[in-house]
Amino acid sequence: MKQSVKLIAGNWKMNGLGASLDEVASLRRSLEEQPAACRVALCPPATLVERMAAAVKGSVIEVGGQDCRAETHGAFTGGVSAGMLKDAGATLVIVGHSERRQEFGESDRLVAAKAEAAVGAGLAPIVCVGETLEQREAGRAVEVVRDQVMNSLPRAVLAGDFAVAYEPVWAIGTGLTPTLDQIEEVHRAVRAAMIERLGLGSAAAPILYGGSVKPDNARDILAVPEVGGALVGGASLKASDFLPIIRAA
Ligand code: 13P
Repeated sequence: MKQSVKLIAGNWKMNGLGASLDEVASLRRSLEEQPAACRVALCPPATLVERMAAAVKGSVIEVGGQDCRAETHGAFTGGVSAGMLKDAGATLVIVGHSERRQEFGESDRLVAAKAEAAVGAGLAPIVCVGETLEQREAGRAVEVVRDQVMNSLPRAVLAGDFAVAYEPVWAIGTGLTPTLDQIEEVHRAVRAAMIERLGLGSAAAPILYGGSVKPDNARDILAVPEVGGALVGGASLKASDFLPIIRAA
């Protein structure tokens, strides 16, 4: 991913039925009338990946999964592999989202294995990191995020397209955001850790900010040094919210 071109990715989480694709059609129309200055991606639930990929075919909008298994196939009831997402039309996949790290106990090691599986299937992984409120209040935000970057990024990502997303857990879905200085501090630390771990070959991969990105704060956040885009939850569900964020990039 070229650093100069920002990536604005929407994470629909467990939201969206077939009828929600109307929002995607509306977004597509707007971006055809006035092209985006950034890359645009939407990560719907697995049930919608194939239909969304069909709905955006021939447009600039990319489709991603929200998670994948580290294995390619096998007896993993309910599991979805990176290859299955690719086969359904995805080009990206989020791995290591804090909701999965917390709810399913996903470790850095597992997240790295998932990122490696994504690369193996030809998907660009978006590897998520971020501190809890308790860790921030203990003055450990930078240290925690640095450790996650060092341990969640396999060398395999260097083979293709990938991104890191910094999402402070306490900013997700809360309407709270770090100050612009705090965002810059962590993003610089993420970049330094990426280069330490993977070398200068990782310098062009964007570092997205995520956590309560809205139309009214997107422009300021996206102007922070080392912010290479945004991972947007709630405000990606409606084209009327997501579009102004894309226009801010
Ligand atoms: P919100 O934008 O709803 O805070 O969610 C952020 C997020 O978790 C994106 O992955």
